[in-house]
Amino acid sequence: APVEAKPRLTLKLCEPRGFCAGVDRAIQIVVLALKKYGAPVYVRHEIVHNKYVVDGLRDMGAVFVKELTEVPDDGQPVVFSAHGVPKSVPARAEARDMFYLDATCPLVSKVHKQGLRHVKLGRHVLLIGHAGHPEVVGTLGQLPEGSVTLIETEEDVAAFEPADASALGFITQTTLSVDDTAGVVNALMAKFPELSAPSSESICYATTNRQDAVKVAAEGTDLFVVVGAPNSSNSKRLVEVAKRFGAKDAILVESERDIPWGEIADGARLALSAGASAPDILIDAIIEKARQGFDVDLEIVQTAEENELFPVMRALRDTPLTPA
Ligand code: F3S
Repeated sequence: APVEAKPRLTLKLCEPRGFCAGVDRAIQIVVLALKKYGAPVYVRHEIVHNKYVVDGLRDMGAVFVKELTEVPDDGQPVVFSAHGVPKSVPARAEARDMFYLDATCPLVSKVHKQGLRHVKLGRHVLLIGHAGHPEVVGTLGQLPEGSVTLIETEEDVAAFEPADASALGFITQTTLSVDDTAGVVNALMAKFPELSAPSSESICYATTNRQDAVKVAAEGTDLFVVVGAPNSSNSKRLVEVAKRFGAKDAILVESERDIPWGEIADGARLALSAGASAPDILIDAIIEKARQGFDVDLEIVQTAEENELFPVMRALRDTPLTPA
């Protein structure tokens, strides 16, 4: 019998994609803390928004908690997540004499500093971001009570009436849509011409780079697949960007199993990216699965090169490892 040819599939792979330097550092902090201090290592909130990563760390002995009240006084370290925390969290840890390691991404800490700088200069702070996201909760809680207002949309801009329109400054969440944020900032500038920008961009390099690659790869694709968690802000933004820039359809998946392989036609054009908290092993599994069912033509769409590396805190560097 003649060998049946596999259906053809073009697969565009975005570069950069997946892990950013802040996520990589946060995971390393938990791994190194486990090696140095042994299990358990408590982690407040999901260290990064990815089930695969969280499950892997749990298997190594990490214990995930919602609040510090769940952590016993056993002298074991507690790690704060990459998204950052309100000031009240380290304050409470110190009050209880806890040993904590702060895995807040340095680029999130930078936004905290920019917000505090606005406050120091007498400005009311406008934080552009999504209500309820842990980074937003953290950033709001870094600034003095009453000194900051959350702005989510252009409608919020229209509704906002400040006490003093001449003393306003804005900052943003690090993982927003670059284009939507520009829209909100323009609306703010139009209404409050004296608005002060932060002294450097709040949206981080990883967010910007991943969105740029998706913009280029999206055009003419039948299906854009973004690997990421449903609660990952930067991953959800990649899906929106893909749709806006020409993908016929775009979906967020947690693994290869969420892809509707059976509906993919012969000759289809797929594109693939991953949010900053999604490990490449999940991408590899998708490519592998595609190769099983299709004759794959793999194209790399590279729009930037990333060399960022955020070192872990001194306490964990050159860790003399406890024998396994
Ligand atoms: Fe940091 Fe940006 Fe990643 S703020 S954690 S480098 S997505």
